[in-house]
Amino acid sequence: MNYTKWWKQAVIYEIYLRSFYDSNGDGVGDLQGIIQKLDYIKDLGVDAIWVTPFYQSPLDDMGYDISDYCSILLEFGTMEDFERLVHESHRRGIKVVIDMVLNHTSDEHPWFVESRSSKTNPRRDWYVWHPGIKGDLPNNWQSAFQGSAWEYDELTGEYYLHQFSKKQPDLNWRNPQVREAMFDMIRFWLDKGVDGLRLDIINSLIEDGDFRDNIFIDNGLKIDYSKIYNNLDVAPEKIIDYTRNQPETYSIVRELRNKVIERYKDIFTVGEAYPCSPEVAGELAGEGKLDVCFHFDFLFLNKRDVRSFKEIISRWEGSIKDRGPGAWNCYYLSNHDMPRQVSVFGSEKYYKESAAMLAAFLLTLPGTIFMYQGEEIGMTDVKFNAIEHYRDIMCVNYYKRLVEEGVDLDTALSEAQKMSRDNARTPMQWSNEKHGGFTMGTPWLGVNENYRDINVRAQQGDTKSILSFYKTLIKLRKDYKTLVYGSYKPLLEEHQQVMAYIREDEHAKLLVILNMSEQMVNLQEPLDGTIDIRNTVLLIANTDQGNPFQLKPFEVRIYLV
Ligand code: NOJ
Repeated sequence: MNYTKWWKQAVIYEIYLRSFYDSNGDGVGDLQGIIQKLDYIKDLGVDAIWVTPFYQSPLDDMGYDISDYCSILLEFGTMEDFERLVHESHRRGIKVVIDMVLNHTSDEHPWFVESRSSKTNPRRDWYVWHPGIKGDLPNNWQSAFQGSAWEYDELTGEYYLHQFSKKQPDLNWRNPQVREAMFDMIRFWLDKGVDGLRLDIINSLIEDGDFRDNIFIDNGLKIDYSKIYNNLDVAPEKIIDYTRNQPETYSIVRELRNKVIERYKDIFTVGEAYPCSPEVAGELAGEGKLDVCFHFDFLFLNKRDVRSFKEIISRWEGSIKDRGPGAWNCYYLSNHDMPRQVSVFGSEKYYKESAAMLAAFLLTLPGTIFMYQGEEIGMTDVKFNAIEHYRDIMCVNYYKRLVEEGVDLDTALSEAQKMSRDNARTPMQWSNEKHGGFTMGTPWLGVNENYRDINVRAQQGDTKSILSFYKTLIKLRKDYKTLVYGSYKPLLEEHQQVMAYIREDEHAKLLVILNMSEQMVNLQEPLDGTIDIRNTVLLIANTDQGNPFQLKPFEVRIYLV
């Protein structure tokens, strides 16, 4: 077993910079804010942080629209702050992973300003332009943020492609000059000593050269593609998508590895790929490619569904052997683009128990683990009472579209509340002080009212808190590398409420039992025909132990067999 790569056994903590900690009272989280909280992060026991974009940006998509890749947006800090963050993190043994947005820039990036200025500008071909067809859109491609992915530009009378907002024009990655410029930019950050890159929507770099229409097929029928809001609303297997997972994208990833990543030592790369099947992961990640890929299978479920959880893990674990050398998995249950995990996969009634259950689930899975800020204290979704309080462009556009289509305002708001990415982006709840201790000023996005009960300070001294449970689990993962590298054997595969599995290698055999339901569950003995739980050692549980064959709602037990 190759134990040498640091990232294989890492727990990586995602920091949504704007909402983590505001050190200067302007209402926005900043790099100094992270530095001030590094001891907290260290104490949690994680190995690395992933910091969301901090580059120059007009913030149309909260920083994923970059207008200068090599300088830092003043409200987040300065280059000196960034260098200090890297230094201070390393001093504490914490690695730093940064976000790289390669598919698109901001429309305010000087490259795009030049590109749109005339059809003969040398940078025209740096973006994807199209004259349109008979005075209409080039094709039916849609933006992830509603509406056509093409924007007509009056100045030169052509359309440019934007798979996200119209302020995020897609770069033309077929152009070697674009590739070289972006590779240089990545070198700039690697030279600053960062340890890894999270590559935003990496499978979208190249689109079909013939600009073919995307096709939406349901029950064998070809359906009008414009009837869907955006690709996120439809199961990926129902779309023949000419904007993602193109073979040329896979070769660019290999080029990136050869020309850039390989020249540095131990750099970790994780690609965000939507949609991502194990086959796509095999193309994007492995030897000579990226290290791992995020898939969206849990997000797509959008609810607690025990049988599907089992299928997802079995599918991904089972696929490793077919994905070629270097294949490795990673798992997460939350990030800055999806509602909070306790609200989606847990239960409000059994809030604390279900938060702990989800922690135990995540942290006993094989591979590299990502967790998201606030998850460790069980932060939940928010319900702002008016659309004006939302900042997420995706949710605001969705609301507008519903209203345009005649949906009543209350329904439109409640639909927007459910899907809003702001659910995950409300400021981190540090204490029960004003604004949850996040800022001395006015926060850029409202704080969840429940900060008085759910906050770091309240949980820090409490050995039974969610926070303490996370720390215990992260430590267990360090003590038993079996949880990282060991085999995964599912038990009780047909069970609708309980998830159980064995993690085993030459050093240990661990049994994980998770009651993922609000009901008491009686366990049948023996679990897999061999294990008698009376002959095991209980390592961790989230409730006081009673009858070993009866699980309380959301009860978690991890045994050494
Ligand atoms: C994925 C990022 O996680 C998301 O926040 C962003 O809006 C899109 N990519 C576009 O960059």
